[in-house]
Order: sequence, then C-alpha cells, then structure tokens
Amino acid sequence: MRIATILGLTTALCASAGTTYNVVQEYAGPTFFDGWDFYGNFDNLTNGDAIFVSSSEATSQRLAYVDPSTNHAIIKVDNTSRVAFNEKRNTVRITSQDRFAIGSVWVADMLHVPYGCSVWPAFWSQAPAWPEGGEIDTFEGVNQVTRNQMALHTNPGCSLRQDPTSLTQTSSIINSTNCDSAANENSGCVVTDPSLQSYGEVFAKGGGGVFVTEFAEEGISVWFFPRDLVPQSLSSNTTSLDTSKLGKPTANWPSGPGGCDINTFFQPQNLIFDITLCGDFAGAPNVFSQTCSGKCYNDYVIGDPSTYDNAYFDVASVRVYGEVGKQVVLQKGQSGNSGIGIRVSGLGVLVSSLVIGGMMVMI
Ligand SMILES: *[C@@H]1O[C@H](CO)[C@@H](O)[C@H](O)[C@H]1NC(C)=O
Ligand SMILES: *[C@@H]1O[C@H](CO)[C@@H](O)[C@H](O)[C@H]1NC(C)=O
Ligand SMILES: *[C@@H]1O[C@H](CO)[C@@H](O)[C@H](O)[C@H]1NC(C)=O
Ligand SMILES: *[C@@H]1O[C@H](CO)[C@@H](O)[C@H](O)[C@H]1NC(C)=O
Repeated sequence: MRIATILGLTTALCASAGTTYNVVQEYAGPTFFDGWDFYGNFDNLTNGDAIFVSSSEATSQRLAYVDPSTNHAIIKVDNTSRVAFNEKRNTVRITSQDRFAIGSVWVADMLHVPYGCSVWPAFWSQAPAWPEGGEIDTFEGVNQVTRNQMALHTNPGCSLRQDPTSLTQTSSIINSTNCDSAANENSGCVVTDPSLQSYGEVFAKGGGGVFVTEFAEEGISVWFFPRDLVPQSLSSNTTSLDTSKLGKPTANWPSGPGGCDINTFFQPQNLIFDITLCGDFAGAPNVFSQTCSGKCYNDYVIGDPSTYDNAYFDVASVRVYGEVGKQVVLQKGQSGNSGIGIRVSGLGVLVSSLVIGGMMVMI
C-alpha cells in the first residue's frame, strides 16, 4: 500500500533530512492512550513469555495508565503477581491507530525506559505488511545492556551505507549493515548509541531524554538527547520542528546507491510500544548470558515479581510532525483500510478518504 497522488502535492515536494515539519499528532496527558490499540493476546510474534493484555485488562491491572501526579503515560510489566510454572506474565503492547508516511518525524519524550533481566522493551514502528513495508527501531534493548540500539528491518536490498554522506556520529557503534530481515537471523542493520545515558538506570537517573526519528525520502535518522542536552527547539513543545537544527543524528541510514532506497523499502508506519520477556532476543541463551545469570524464564518470569519494578516506560509525550504541505497521517478507518482519512500537515484539516477536490486518493 502506498500513497499514489494526493492533490498532486507529493510529486512536487521532496522529503529530505533537514527540513521543516509541523506537528500533526500528539499523544500526551489524560488522553495519551486514546489513539492506540492493545494487542490482547500472548506474544505470538517474538516467542516471549508474555501476555500482551487487552485495553480493559491494562486499565484494571494498572499496566497502562496516565499517572495523575505527572500526567505521564505509564506502560509496564506486572510486578505484583506470582506467575505459576508454564504460565506467562502480563505486560503491554500498543500500536498507534494512525500510520505515518514518509515525510514525518516522531518525537518521544521519556523519563524512564524498562530494563532488567528478561526484559525486552522497544519503541519502534512498522508497516502492516512486513517486511516489505519496513520496520524502524528507535529504542530497543534487552536484559542489563547499558546502551540503546537502533535498527532497520526490510526486504533484501537495503543497507546501512557507511560512506561520508552518512550523517551518523562518528562515535556511534555500527554493529551490522545488512537490513534484510532474512539475513543474520533478522538482526537488521544496527547502530548502538555510545551514550550510557541512552538506556537503563543511567537513563532514568538523568531524567530520561528525547528520541527523534526522521522518516524522510533522503534517509532515516534517529537522534537521542539525554535530558540535560535536549535542544530548546524540542523542549518548548514546539509546533514546528527543523531537523537541520538538531546536529548529527545518532544513527542515519541514507538513501541512494549502496544505501537504502526509503521509497522502495518503506511504507506508512504504525508506532509501537511493547515490553516482552525472554523470547527470541532477550531469551536467546548467548544473549541472555552476556548480562544476566541463571535462566530467563525459571529465574525471572516466574520468580520474584520485584524483578520487574523497573520494567516500565514513563512517557511525557509522543508527538508526530509532518513535512509542511504533505499529507502524512493515515487514519485507521471504521472497517479495515476502507475508511482511512488523511490529515494535512500544518493545516490540521481532516478529510475523508475517497474524494478530495474531485481527485481520487489511493492508499
Ligand atoms: C497471534 O494471535 C492473534 C490472535 O489469536 C492472531 O490473530 C494472529 O494471527 C497471531 N499471529 C501470529 C503471527 O501467529
Ligand atoms: C554492538 O557492538 C557493541 C560494541 O562492540 C557491543 O557492545 C554490543 O553488544 C553490540 N550490539 C549488538 C546488538 O550486537
Ligand atoms: C509540554 O507538553 C506536555 C504534554 O502536553 C506538558 O505536560 C508540558 O507541561 C508542556 N511543557 C511546556 C514547557 O509547555
Ligand atoms: C512495581 O513497580 C512500580 C513502578 O512501576 C513501583 O512503584 C512499585 O513499588 C512496584 N512494586 C509493587 C509491589 O507494586
């Protein structure tokens, strides 16, 4: 699925890193959870020992709620229940109802991210069709790692190009360059943030920080700013954002030959927060043993629930910005894809899916 022609604008504008974007969507405060779907099933995606609860269970068990004292969204693992052998522990996976097209930027301001043995959290995005629509991992880690890792996962043919046109900070750690989900056991093309402030206890002690993900035709970029280094342009709840003012990204996957053609490998993305336990990554014995001892399931998931006291996201806001003049928000319809509406960046206009100004909009 892709946007073909919308008012003829998409052909005239070229999304690029370092452009101006206006806010098109905000998840914050008491209504934070309104725009998300809860998975409502056990983790049948990554083989985690986790049940992603429904919206009503998340509310009644206080696994997803807005803390009235801070107005922040809390997304967490059950840290009060004893789990019986052969059962899974309750946690949360939420997916944004809206999808965001090339030409958008998402900015997530967080105070705390989940960590601890067996814990595998991520803030990321993917297209409904995977891997052909692509996946962008802004924030991810497992167990007791001390740094955030960022990655893309795609069809074959998309790579992280490391020539001088890549904007990635020289201190960033390039772990792998092939983004093909079928290669290297789907590890993706991974960049690790060198900053210890990007994960775990050090992240929380420093007051967290802000992750910025730019999804542009020229390339995909992720910036992380620990709280004391958040630029004024992000800290003041700005309605307009110029990514050229943010400095070099922590990770950058440029388009073009030898890199990743974003138009080919990426479709509009749903944003996702999830926390699973053990599973394909955190629970892989060679990964688990790098930072934790014992057995992932036996010693943690069904062990002392206080293992999960730090297994939560504390999110002040997630804001999505769209390139000025471009339609980047694809809204979920009442029935599948048939009722999708489009919001025009900068104008705040909501229109129906079928006919705009006499022209057919195809999604
Ligand atoms: C996971 O479970 C849900 C609900 O039963 C189902 O709709 C979905 O197809 C399953 N996904 C996979 C990958 O098995
Ligand atoms: C990436 O490389 C760093 C430095 O060698 C290492 O500490 C980290 O575990 C690697 N991450 C992955 C996912 O391989
Ligand atoms: C920014 O927005 C958040 C969420 O809407 C709010 O809690 C916070 O007070 C705002 N900050 C400023 C400086 O306006
Ligand atoms: C569970 O975790 C929360 C933080 O999310 C913490 O405030 C609480 O004290 C922990 N323990 C129990 C028993 O709720």
